[in-house]
Amino acid sequence: MTLNELASHVSAEFKKIHGRPPRWLAAAPGRVNVIGEHTDYNDGFVLPMAIERYAVMAADGAPDDKKLIRIRDAAPGVEPVTIDLSAPIRPGAPKWGNYPRGVVAGFLARGARLGGLDVLLQSTVPLGGGLSSSAALEVCAATLLEAATGHPIDPVEKALLCQKAEHEFAGMPCGIMDQFISVMGRENRLLLLDCRSRKTDLVPMNDPSVAILIVNTNVKHELTGSEYPMRRKQCEAAAKILGVPSLRDATAEALERARGKMDDVVFRRARHVIGEIERTVHAAEGVRASNWPTVGLLMYASHRSLRDDYEVSCAELDAVVEIAESIGPRGGVFGCRMTGGGFGGCAVALVKSEAAGAISKTIAGEYKRKTGIEATIFNSRPAPGARILQNQTGRVWR
Ligand code: GLA
Repeated sequence: MTLNELASHVSAEFKKIHGRPPRWLAAAPGRVNVIGEHTDYNDGFVLPMAIERYAVMAADGAPDDKKLIRIRDAAPGVEPVTIDLSAPIRPGAPKWGNYPRGVVAGFLARGARLGGLDVLLQSTVPLGGGLSSSAALEVCAATLLEAATGHPIDPVEKALLCQKAEHEFAGMPCGIMDQFISVMGRENRLLLLDCRSRKTDLVPMNDPSVAILIVNTNVKHELTGSEYPMRRKQCEAAAKILGVPSLRDATAEALERARGKMDDVVFRRARHVIGEIERTVHAAEGVRASNWPTVGLLMYASHRSLRDDYEVSCAELDAVVEIAESIGPRGGVFGCRMTGGGFGGCAVALVKSEAAGAISKTIAGEYKRKTGIEATIFNSRPAPGARILQNQTGRVWR
């Protein structure tokens, strides 16, 4: 479904439910990270792109005077969310409501005056697939509130507001990558983001001879909750032993010299991060030069490091990468790696466009044979970031 189709669909559904058309429509994309994994919270570099999968919200001011934001999901069987603006906003049930709750709380903390809203949500970002479905939801909610208040927020502040929502309302101590790319994605561009300075560099990726394939393993291992914060702590421990503010400031040589001072797990975590930051910078140069074989090799190296040193891969992700590697450059695959936090979710592959169909078939078939699971595979060009799709002047609260 294209964004236009999705938006028309949500708009029509809103009208069916509420008997009037929506006043505002906002969209925010999911993302795939090409390289630079578990580097964002180490002040390093990441190289994601927004994908053609979106969270879309249609909304209008609530006709009653109650200060309630009511959000329904267009998917059947999802419990709706009600946010009561007359009481302090706190995390609660249903859980998915914590993303928009956190965003609303962020707007109120900035002094925004909000009134009641009827909202309908539909998202084509696969849930829990490592493609930032939660960031898409947060950034979509923030974009909708920008429209409804008539007050745009600076993009960096907007991304940080959404990250804060995830920290404080969803309890996930994520880095800044997902929210930044959902806000700042550009068509046919990857985003090289320096997570320390927050400087962004748009790297053109418009060579029609290559395509990005996203392979959803359709598994999610329930480790993520505890493992992610643990990785952050291990990285901080390594930086402390090395006497640097973060692993961004460490070198492979300094780490090697300090090997005896840290336990093996902490050493390997740091080795991944230091190597991955370097790979990400090189990969961005490779993309600029359309040097796809080099970018592909860096992606494989990233996967190995995530699997062996950072230990965030899983058998299903490893299977996809092995299959891709066995197809190899002759079959049109330049590189492949797990993407996102890990423990399931998606792998990303860089392939020759002309071979993409055949590669998808081979990966799906072999993956099913090895694991018994159906993968979901799709391709995406780098997509534009969040935006307001419809903004009829109406009630403005602020
Ligand atoms: C999750 C987090 C991001 C980032 C990745 C790993 O997606 O939300 O901030 O840390 O994991 O690269």
